[in-house]
Amino acid sequence: MSIIIPIRNDLGAQPSRLKVPAGATLTSLPPLSVYVHVPWCVRKCPYCDFNSHAAAGEIPERAYLDALRSDLEQALPSIWGRQVVSVFIGGGTPSLLSSAGLDELLAMLRACLNLWPDAEITMEANPGTAEAGRFRDYAASGVTRFSLGIQSFDDAQLKKLGRIHDSAQARAAIEMAQRAVPRVNLDMMFALPGQTLDACVADLRQAVAFGTEHLSLYHLTMEPNTVFAKFPPEDLPDDDTSAAMQDAVEAELAAAGLARYEVSAYAKPGARCRHNLNYWEFGDYLGLGPGAHGKLSFHDRILREARLRGPESWMQAAMARDGSHIAESRQVGPDELPFEFMLNALRLKDGVAATAFHERTGLSLAAIAHQLEAASRRGLLDADPTRLRATPLGWRFLNDLQEMFL
Ligand SMILES: C[S@@+](CC[C@H](N)C(=O)[O-])C[C@H]1O[C@@H](n2cnc3c(N)ncnc32)[C@H](O)[C@@H]1O
Ligand code: SF4
Repeated sequence: MSIIIPIRNDLGAQPSRLKVPAGATLTSLPPLSVYVHVPWCVRKCPYCDFNSHAAAGEIPERAYLDALRSDLEQALPSIWGRQVVSVFIGGGTPSLLSSAGLDELLAMLRACLNLWPDAEITMEANPGTAEAGRFRDYAASGVTRFSLGIQSFDDAQLKKLGRIHDSAQARAAIEMAQRAVPRVNLDMMFALPGQTLDACVADLRQAVAFGTEHLSLYHLTMEPNTVFAKFPPEDLPDDDTSAAMQDAVEAELAAAGLARYEVSAYAKPGARCRHNLNYWEFGDYLGLGPGAHGKLSFHDRILREARLRGPESWMQAAMARDGSHIAESRQVGPDELPFEFMLNALRLKDGVAATAFHERTGLSLAAIAHQLEAASRRGLLDADPTRLRATPLGWRFLNDLQEMFL
């Protein structure tokens, strides 16, 4: 569903679509990715504010797949003819899907979309739901990359974090995943309750010991509306300690060949996540499933979409086939584009080519010349005119730098 704003055209005749003002026309469309949200988990973790819901018993897989097909079919006109470079099946806990269910999901995507033959197809999995046979089946169906929610190898931490698995299960899941597919990411968290600097580094060393090629490392945050926000752990590391952890871990990972390439992402050469890179490079993505967000470019406008968040309401609305499963669809105004672009691009350590700004927003770089100059003067932005890249200082004060483009 797109927002059609009736305006009178110059001839004063029929209403027509509102156009982004001259200069904001896209001459080519960016790469397109697809995100599929699976909203159920075995249990809700106390720190998590993702759109994930504890499944009471079996997940309603049949109803979910039918609704997903309906959601996808209704979205096709907005991406007609475009190639899909990557798919990310995230959650929630996608590894709650049966082998047959995941096979049907990927077959559906392949049948309806122009999926690149070597598209990266990532699936998130929770070690508490891992089975070797199922991982092999997922891979046989087309999954090329697993992203495992490990968080820590310390059993006491895993308990405090309310995880459904222990470290032995986490280790077994890594080995299963690495045997099944060529690419595996480990999600880890730091600044955990009672965690010392040494314990944090030891945790990451264990992750590295698996020959891990990609790590996502998140500072544990207290998100509103979570159990931890209401009952915060008392022994969280202070800011100085968590900053020291970040530095120590970055050095440790670099020594193991895992370079930090984004605020929370580390990879060996050639192992960067193509799907996430497309987000950060301000590419397009179709978001399917409850609560999924999307960004879609057209030659004359850029739309942001969000699906209904509730699994039941999304399923019902998607089956009604009347567009009511779309909670929000709005055109991003040209005045919002510079901030949106910079919010993503500056998260990348190497930034992006300066030409990408015009390619992805349709705006001339001159539109932000003033802000670029001010950021560069404050030492936050690299002086290289061919790239938009934060300096080490700018990366440390990333929020301040990004806000300069608001
Ligand atoms: C959707 S979950 C990953 C897959 C799966 N649901 C799991 O947890 O095993 C994405 C990741 O976000 C991170 N995360 C979630 N809530 C967080 C928080 N409050 N602070 C820091 N990282 C968080 C965790 O590392 C988690 O693995
Ligand atoms: S398993 Fe993952 S998505 Fe589910 S509640 Fe825990 S962190 Fe959130």
